[in-house]
Order: sequence, then C-alpha cells, then structure tokens
Amino acid sequence: MNFSDILTVLGNPYFTNDTIAIYNMDCKEGLEIMRQHNLQVQATITSPPYNIGKIYEKPMPITTYIDWIADVSQLVYDVTSNHGTYLLNLGYLKVEGKARALPIPYLLWDKMPFFLNQEIIWNYGAGVACKHYLSPRNEKILWYVKDEENYTFNLDAIRDPDVKYPNSKKNGKLRVNTLGKNPSDVWQIAKVTTGANRSPEERTDHPAQFPEDLVQRMILGFTNEQDIIIDPFLGSGTTASVALQHNRCCIGFEINEAYCETAKRRIMQQDSKLQQDRFNLFQIAV
Ligand SMILES: C[S@@+](CC[C@H](N)C(=O)[O-])C[C@H]1O[C@@H](n2cnc3c(N)ncnc32)[C@H](O)[C@@H]1O
Repeated sequence: MNFSDILTVLGNPYFTNDTIAIYNMDCKEGLEIMRQHNLQVQATITSPPYNIGKIYEKPMPITTYIDWIADVSQLVYDVTSNHGTYLLNLGYLKVEGKARALPIPYLLWDKMPFFLNQEIIWNYGAGVACKHYLSPRNEKILWYVKDEENYTFNLDAIRDPDVKYPNSKKNGKLRVNTLGKNPSDVWQIAKVTTGANRSPEERTDHPAQFPEDLVQRMILGFTNEQDIIIDPFLGSGTTASVALQHNRCCIGFEINEAYCETAKRRIMQQDSKLQQDRFNLFQIAV
C-alpha cells in the first residue's frame, strides 16, 4: 500500500505534492472511505478540538463529545497497520459542578480500542496566569499502539543531549550514552505564542497550532522514513510540514477551508525551502 493508492481512493485533494495531501473533509468521512477500502497507514498524530468553545468547534454535550472522539479513534484503529501508532494530544474540559479542568483522557481511557503504551506530559512555560488556582502548564499526549510487543520506537533519534555529567565514567568507561539521555515522559516544549514580538516564525493564523518541535519529536521517535502518517484534524498543517521535513508522507483532513488554505501555503513554502537547501548543498558539493 502506498501514498498514491490512498489518494486514488480518497479522490481529489484540496492540495497535494509528492508526499503530502490535504483534504477539505470531515475526518470521519475520509477515514470511513479508507476503512472500507482496507487502506492502512503506519501512524496518526493529531490534536482534536477539546470542546471548550474555540472558534473552530461546535459545542457538544460532554458524552456526545467523548463518543465522537472514541468513534474517530475507532476509525483510526481500523486504518492503522498491525504495528502502527496513534499519538493523541488532549487537554482539559470543564464539567459543571464536578471539575474546573478535567483531563480529557480520564473520560476516554476505557473507550479506546488501542493499547495505551504511555502518557506523555507536554509542559510549557507561557500561558494564562491564574489567581485562585495553579496556572495550567501542561497537556497530555497519549501514545497508543496496536501491538504492545511490536511498535516503532527510535530512542536514539530523540535522545536529549543535555546530560548533566557527560564525562562520568565507571571502570574507565563512559557511563552515559554519547547521543544523550532518554527524553523521559515529560517534554518541555514552548507553545506557539501569539502577540507582537513574541510570535515565532512558524506562527500561522490558526489559534491552536502544534509547535513543530513537539511534532518533530513524535515523528522522529515513533515513525520511520517513508511511513504514511494521518492527521485527522490538520489545522494549520503542522504534522504535514514536519512530515515533509523528515521524509514521511502525510494525509490531513481539515473541515475548515480557510485552514486548508493556511496549511497549503505552509507546505508550499516548506517545500521551496527544502528544495533551496538541497540546491545549496549540491552547489557546495560540486
Ligand atoms: C486543535 S485544532 C488542530 C491544530 C493543528 N494541530 C495545528 O498544528 O494547526 C483542531 C482542528 O480540527 C478541525 N476540525 C474540527 N472538526 C473536524 C472534523 N470533523 N474533521 C476534520 N477537521 C475538523 C478544526 O477546524 C481545527 O482546525
């Protein structure tokens, strides 16, 4: 199964190049078509709406919302290859009279068809400053796999070079891995901030953009080159942009056409930059 087989079945994308395709489509519709045609991918990396009133979401009763995330996840499971992976980023929601900020994973944990391999805490510095309770500074990434014994994990590709005692030795041998340490299940990665003089270069007009560094760690650590990755909630196209930088294919579904356009422009810019870099390298080599 390859990238072009999937495009043939899904039909005309909003945008495509050799390895990236963006569909302006409800993800359930797209995933259902893939399921019916037995199309499979190696990984899904995504961040769905959290049902907290953002501009891009329709508010739903909590049980409806949880059932919806579970339904999308079942479809993801059905289109994931036997040794595939599902990385699901989730935050918190308010439950009237019960919780100010309930971690969404608490509501989902027994509704998922995948094996939960690990919960990763994404910790960031900037955010809302609160007076009556602690300022929230984390979200979760649920690392699901289909086969608990056999899945992709490229530890060396994501080792953290910030080792406290890099020269520490035992019996004359270095004690630490020279590539760095295991990055642990707490990842400190800055959010994509907004505001004059504060926005990083990667900032688009999307209000809930994934940081590229976060997606890069997921792509390098949990997928291989040439793998096909889906992002059912593509937004500004971060998953696709990082996939392009690291020789993975990506298929994204996004219901809002304006965000498809944002993602398309981002991929085209990234593509030209990569081509320019390759050209510059070639010039140095000859
Ligand atoms: C949290 S944002 C994802 C942001 C993305 N990770 C990025 O880096 O820009 C969720 C996105 O899902 C889209 N969305 C909501 N419902 C959808 C659906 N049923 N199918 C496809 N996309 C949907 C929204 O328009 C929004 O852009």
